[in-house]
Amino acid sequence: MSGDSIPLPDGEFRRVARADDIPTGKMMHVELDQQDIVLCRTQEGWFAVQNVCTHAYARLHEGRLRGSRLICPFHGASFDCRNGAVLGPPAVVPLKTYRVRISDGYVEVAVGG
Ligand code: FES
Repeated sequence: MSGDSIPLPDGEFRRVARADDIPTGKMMHVELDQQDIVLCRTQEGWFAVQNVCTHAYARLHEGRLRGSRLICPFHGASFDCRNGAVLGPPAVVPLKTYRVRISDGYVEVAVGG
C-alpha cells in the first residue's frame, strides 16, 4: 500500500507534501511503503524520523516539536529530530531517520536507503 505518494524517477525519494503546507515549527505524519514517518520542519530545515516512539509505541506526531526536540505525548521522552538521538527518558533507543529533500516546492522523503 503506497498511499497517494508519487514515485519519482530515481525510485527512492517520494513526494509526501507541498512544502508550503507545513509551517516552520510544525510536523506532519506520512506513510510510505507501510512505514510510519513524522516529517518535522524546523528552523534548521526538514527532517524525517520514525513516527513510533521507541519506548511504548506512541505516535510522535501527536506530541510536540520544540526547535529540533520531538517530545512524545505518552511519557515525555524526547528525541532530536535531526538525527533520531534520545535526548530525554524514558526512551533509550534512538529513532530511525529518513533522508528529506525539497524539490519543485514539494517535500520528498527517501525510504529504503
Ligand atoms: S511511549 Fe513515548 S515516552 Fe513512553
